[in-house]
Formats: sequence, structure tokens, C-alpha cells
Amino acid sequence: MANVAITGAGRGIALELVKLHVERGDQVFALLRDPEGAAALKAIAAGSGGSVTLHAMDVGDDASVRDGAADTGDAAIDVLYNVAGVSGSVTSELESADFTDWAEVFNINVSGPMRVFQAFLPRLKAGAKVLSLGSQVGASTWPYPGYEAYAASKAALHRLMHSIALGTRERGIIAVSVHPGWVRTAMGGPQADLTPQESAEGIAALADRLTPEMSGGFYKWNGEPHAW
Ligand SMILES: NC(=O)c1ccc[n+]([C@@H]2O[C@H](COP(=O)([O-])OP(=O)(O)OC[C@H]3O[C@@H](n4cnc5c(N)ncnc54)[C@H](OP(=O)(O)O)[C@@H]3O)[C@@H](O)[C@H]2O)c1
Repeated sequence: MANVAITGAGRGIALELVKLHVERGDQVFALLRDPEGAAALKAIAAGSGGSVTLHAMDVGDDASVRDGAADTGDAAIDVLYNVAGVSGSVTSELESADFTDWAEVFNINVSGPMRVFQAFLPRLKAGAKVLSLGSQVGASTWPYPGYEAYAASKAALHRLMHSIALGTRERGIIAVSVHPGWVRTAMGGPQADLTPQESAEGIAALADRLTPEMSGGFYKWNGEPHAW
């Protein structure tokens, strides 16, 4: 049984990760902005015999992350998934960037995973795995012109995870970024390639087989390395 913490756990890919880990018999700390409003997650937790617990956490807010992590107790965390993210403006912003929007996107997509990592760091022991959901649009190898703030934030997140990997190598922590695929969620839209379940299954399988040598890398949901 692993102790698993998941941000943005109320919907999308994160909710599927909750389901998958509870089916495995893991202890899941579901971190989300609005535990009261998360009907599907509450139903899973109610039927889980205590193996899924809900904790309020807005990854964009220092105090909320600190309090949310503290609310989960003091058990060591085996797997931490940073899933919460926002896309910001969906059109090209070359001539009309809204820097309030940019600040929010960077606060949630880059500072958020760092806040969460830091809050749990004392509970990440040797062998602990931290997976942050990046995106192919944050790779220079992916020819996508729009979503400038989102793309830049995910590129920053990939580099942040590389820094975390280097900085925690001697402690034995494994930190990676993962492109989850193009997924049929509120963010990915109905035309996307993968179901949230398919994406979550791939990401969890990748988590299972992560080794210290893989730390700092950027991977696809199917476990293949992703070009930066
Ligand atoms: N779907 C795709 O095709 C795709 C492709 C590449 C990368 N990704 C990445 O994969 C991750 C999950 O995406 P998804 O498709 O599952 O998106 P989604 O269905 O739109 O869900 C986004 C999740 O992030 C949470 N969130 C947003 N801001 C938050 C905050 N300040 N604090 C805590 N939680 C917050 C949302 O919670 P609320 O319910 O409270 O809003 C929601 O649970 C994201 O990081 C995204 O960038 C997705």
C-alpha cells in the first residue's frame, strides 16, 4: 500500500488517478480547492472505507497549500502527483497578452507544484516519486503557436522538475514531468485522443517503473521519453 497525494483531485485526469489508486488499495490524499462541491470524489471517498480523504488545497495560495498538506497528517508520501493546472487564454496573445492572466497561469502551473512539493518535502523519503503534469505545448519540439502563457508555464514547470530532481538526487527522491496526452477533459475538450482513464493508467504505470536514473526527465503518458 502506497500513500499517494494528488492535487486538483475533484475532476479530470486527477480524479481518474484517485480511482485507480483506491482500486489498488492505496491511501489517497485528495487535494482540491472545493471538497464540498466535488460530488464524484465524495462518492468515491464515501465508499472507500477511509482510504480516500479530502483536503482543501488551492495550489495558488501559500497558506492553503501549507494548511492542506498539514491536514493530511504526517505519514510519508510515496507518490505525489501535481495535476492541478489552468490553460489561461486559449487564443494567441502575441498582440494582446493579459498579464493578470499570465500571472495567474504561472502562479498555478509553476509556483503551485513548487509550493506543493515544498509542503510535502519533509515527508518525501528515499524512493518517493513526484510527477508533475506538464504538456507537449511546453516543449520546443512541438510546433504549436498559441497558448503562449500556458506553453511558457509548462516549459518552466519541466525545467523546475529537472531542478528538483538535481537538488534531491542525494535524498533519493525521483522527480519527473509528464505530458498526459491530449485528454478528453474540460481542458482537453471532447475531440481529444485519450480518455482520462487511459491517461491516468499510463501515468500510474510510469510512476510504478520510475527509477532514480529517470529522475529529471520529461515523459509521455505512455512512458516514452518526450523530447524537450
Ligand atoms: N487535458 C489535456 O489534454 C492536457 C494536455 C496536456 C497537459 N494537461 C495538463 O494535465 C493537468 C490536468 O488537466 P485536466 O485535463 O485534468 O484538466 P481539467 O479537467 O481542466 O482539471 C483541472 C484541474 O485543476 C484544478 N485546479 C485549477 N486551478 C487550481 C488551483 N488553483 N488549486 C487547485 N486545483 C486547481 C481544477 O480544480 P477546480 O475544479 O477547483 O477548478 C481541476 O481539478 C493540467 O496540469 C493540464 O495542464 C492536460
